[in-house]
Amino acid sequence: TVYIETYGCQMNVADTEMITGSLLARGYGRVERPEQADVILVNTCAIRENAETKVFARLRELAVHKRTRPSVRLGVTGCMAQHLRDSLRTQAPQVDLLVGPDGYRYLPELLDAEDGALHTALRLDPNETYADVPVARDPGVRAWVTIMRGCDRFCTFCIVPYVRGRERSLPLAALVDEVRRLADAGTKEVVFLGQTVNAYRDGTADFADLLRATQAIDGIDRIRFTSPHPTDMSARVIDAMADCPKVMPQLHLPVQSASDAVLDRMARDYTVAQYERLVDRLRQRIPGIAFSTDIIVGFPGETAADFAATYALIERVRYATAFLFKYSSREGTRAAKWDDDVPDAEKGARLERLIALQERISGEVNRAEVGTDVAVLVEGPARRPEGWVTGKSPQFKRVMCPGPAVAGSTVRVRIEAATSHTLSGRLA
Ligand code: 5AD
Ligand code: SF4
Repeated sequence: TVYIETYGCQMNVADTEMITGSLLARGYGRVERPEQADVILVNTCAIRENAETKVFARLRELAVHKRTRPSVRLGVTGCMAQHLRDSLRTQAPQVDLLVGPDGYRYLPELLDAEDGALHTALRLDPNETYADVPVARDPGVRAWVTIMRGCDRFCTFCIVPYVRGRERSLPLAALVDEVRRLADAGTKEVVFLGQTVNAYRDGTADFADLLRATQAIDGIDRIRFTSPHPTDMSARVIDAMADCPKVMPQLHLPVQSASDAVLDRMARDYTVAQYERLVDRLRQRIPGIAFSTDIIVGFPGETAADFAATYALIERVRYATAFLFKYSSREGTRAAKWDDDVPDAEKGARLERLIALQERISGEVNRAEVGTDVAVLVEGPARRPEGWVTGKSPQFKRVMCPGPAVAGSTVRVRIEAATSHTLSGRLA
């Protein structure tokens, strides 16, 4: 039996589904609690220091199961295993397995060896796509489909290219087959995943081709993807988004900063003006499109004026939501060699100001939907109130309303109330 805990991004959630699939194929059963497991895996994130701190604390807790049941194997998989391959051996000596993002294929073999030694699979493999590995998805109306892995962009703050390796895409034909199988099994929405998802290219087809091919698959009602890089948002991709009605009017478009000086030091490969022109073009071509973003505050050398520019951009773009982070120096990246000179208290103050601003804007943007009818893909019963259902609008906003409504159906909901995070109403 295997128990897996997942930290970090949606790519890790998808990787956990793939790891689970490969172990189920080898005869393992999945359990929901570590007490029931012969194998305990923690699928980890390395994007910021606090992600790793959390996992170290959790590993100390999970090691209890090895003391009470010495045959239990404890493994660390994913980005932190790759990043801290050396220090994990000493800082978490309870760990039996270290498997990086390109080593999941070897997990069953490593688990077969029962000699009590530390077993590792930490080589990055530029050809590994896991195209042949079965994915054990949690059932639901939405399925996440990894279409490319790795990243070649090397933004100076980011550990991803070092722990996930070079960019590589799965073949279009295999992806189309998979989405067809998902549709046959009842999936209504696919979300394509990749570190720079719109850089997808399999040698023949590009991301625009994948969107158009998926549009043609019967049974799929909605298509989304995350996360695109602004520079890879080509005219072909924008045309495909505009032409394909199943591609939802929603885009997560990480900006990171709205100071050209900071963007240049981050090696983001665009200026603020270029980013805003892209937002304008997308708004013209895809009416009603909702944007979300990622922003880092306190990057090395970020001045008060740089920060003010970021604040002003958020006010201009009016994102539906934003993921806001304090800069965290990551060993091995280029920015880690620079002085992390914005004091932590100042980073915290800047972060708080952006959070307050975004909360206000999210509330305003959502309240503007009150009185309108939105098409909601129903996911199932809401946790509460009793009898209510929950789903997402085309703009990927959470909508709740009194039922009845069947999971997987799309219903019209007249919006009556809104907070910064949720819309609610009744069936129209
Ligand atoms: N510090 C803070 N945030 C980071 N991100 C990536 N690396 C770092 C870092 N070193 C953020 C970026 C990215 C998101 C997934 O995480 O905003 O888009
Ligand atoms: Fe990291 Fe930049 Fe690649 Fe995104 S595009 S994964 S931020 S290096």
